[in-house]
Amino acid sequence: MASARIVIDPAFQVGSIDRRLFGSFVEHLGRCVYDGIYEPGHPAADADGFRTDVLELVRELGVSTVRYPGGNFVSGYRWEDGIGPRDQRPTRLDLAWHSTETNEVGVHEFMTWARAAGVEPMMAINLGTRGVLEAIDLLEYANVPSGSTLADQRIANGAADPFTITMWCLGNEMDGPWQLGHRSAEDYGKIASQTAKGMRQLDPSVELVACGSSNRRMPTFGSWEHTVLQHTYHDVDFISCHAYYEEKDGDLDSFLASGVDMDRFIDSVVATADAVGAGLKTDKKINISFDEWNVWYNVRDKEKNTIRGLDNWPKAPRILEDVYSVTDAVVVGNLLISLLRHADRVRAASLAQLVNVIAPIMTEPGGPAWRQTTFYPFAETARRAVGSALRLTLDSDTHQTAAYGEVATIDAAGSHDPETGNTSLFLINRDHGGPSTVEVDLTALPGAAVQDAVLIADDDRHAANTLDRQDRVTLGQLTSYTLDGHRLTVELPPLSWAALTLA
Ligand code: AHR
Repeated sequence: MASARIVIDPAFQVGSIDRRLFGSFVEHLGRCVYDGIYEPGHPAADADGFRTDVLELVRELGVSTVRYPGGNFVSGYRWEDGIGPRDQRPTRLDLAWHSTETNEVGVHEFMTWARAAGVEPMMAINLGTRGVLEAIDLLEYANVPSGSTLADQRIANGAADPFTITMWCLGNEMDGPWQLGHRSAEDYGKIASQTAKGMRQLDPSVELVACGSSNRRMPTFGSWEHTVLQHTYHDVDFISCHAYYEEKDGDLDSFLASGVDMDRFIDSVVATADAVGAGLKTDKKINISFDEWNVWYNVRDKEKNTIRGLDNWPKAPRILEDVYSVTDAVVVGNLLISLLRHADRVRAASLAQLVNVIAPIMTEPGGPAWRQTTFYPFAETARRAVGSALRLTLDSDTHQTAAYGEVATIDAAGSHDPETGNTSLFLINRDHGGPSTVEVDLTALPGAAVQDAVLIADDDRHAANTLDRQDRVTLGQLTSYTLDGHRLTVELPPLSWAALTLA
């Protein structure tokens, strides 16, 4: 049986946990917006056409920020299409997803939804096929109280108060050849810097994210960040990371070690950003916005979702609707552990996406909304990881993986909330062949007692929630632990994720 020893001490901290770490993403893609968050005519729709059953699940998920409107979609998007009377809005072809965009939902509707959901908006601008002026126009439209044509247009369109959007992404995945208007790092760095300067001239309070790499395997990874930050270091606050993981060719061990890839990705981007900062002789630090991450069966989706043809542009097609298993939930739990471990530099992150499209929440038109397996580790981590992320001492047995070499069999992160005094521990067992034991030294937490402990594990690692069986996988109770003085011993089932809160 594999084992690990952990020492947890609230005095040793990585940094405060920014609530923005628990963000998500709503793109005009497939059924995320239409027939997802928005379905007028659904029995649970509110007066604005938003599904209240979905809103309830979004609140339960504990999402803090929501990135919008894309994604690849944003690189062909004209934000002006989505304002004004709905019956006069143009119907456009979305080249990114080969779909029809009716523009029924635009910035006003999204802001109404975001307020109802209690989330902070994170707006992406189009730097693929548009430029500085369109970005400034949108910012003026959104954030200037009144007195300019654009601000007054917003008021005339029904929003008397400014939207006050703080976080802005300067384009999306501009390093990717699939991106409309894909640019070299040099070209993107220049336009991102010009756009950022212009936006700050208008509203100095904005927080800006420059595009980093679309994943760690991109041929330009590393040099992209270096070049882009040389152009934008003084203009932006964040550089983005995107990463999706899937079980490839039956290599379960490597898939279960996806968190190792995320760790290495973050460490490399931090090192690159700090190297650029050192070269510029500045003390300013650039943080990471990990604004797309998840499990995504990308290869499988590419084969399935081939919408083509000049006369075939479906509205809200069922694409990227991955059904997540117990295995996927454990990996999502591990990716959250990685984000927490880097809470000092990863100050924002977005689970991509929120509804129907590679999402923790699924819906049927006119029918129910339900939680996928991945909903649970996200909701539990968002709820428990409050205060500061802890620097744990973790000494785990290891095993070999094809993709990442030798990896720890047990991974962990911890948090401490000074308000309540509660300490939480997040654990995964990457051993799918048997249980593992974890011994936790609680000497620094005298009198600590386990308040509650939850678990994701199943005899069938492929078990999933579907329309027909929406609660096949739910959160279990972890009971296999003993507390003896300052020593907590936890037995983790094979291939499992667990969270314990100590009061
Ligand atoms: O989240 C799905 C897609 O993945 C996004 O549109 C894009 O940014 C990324 O490649």
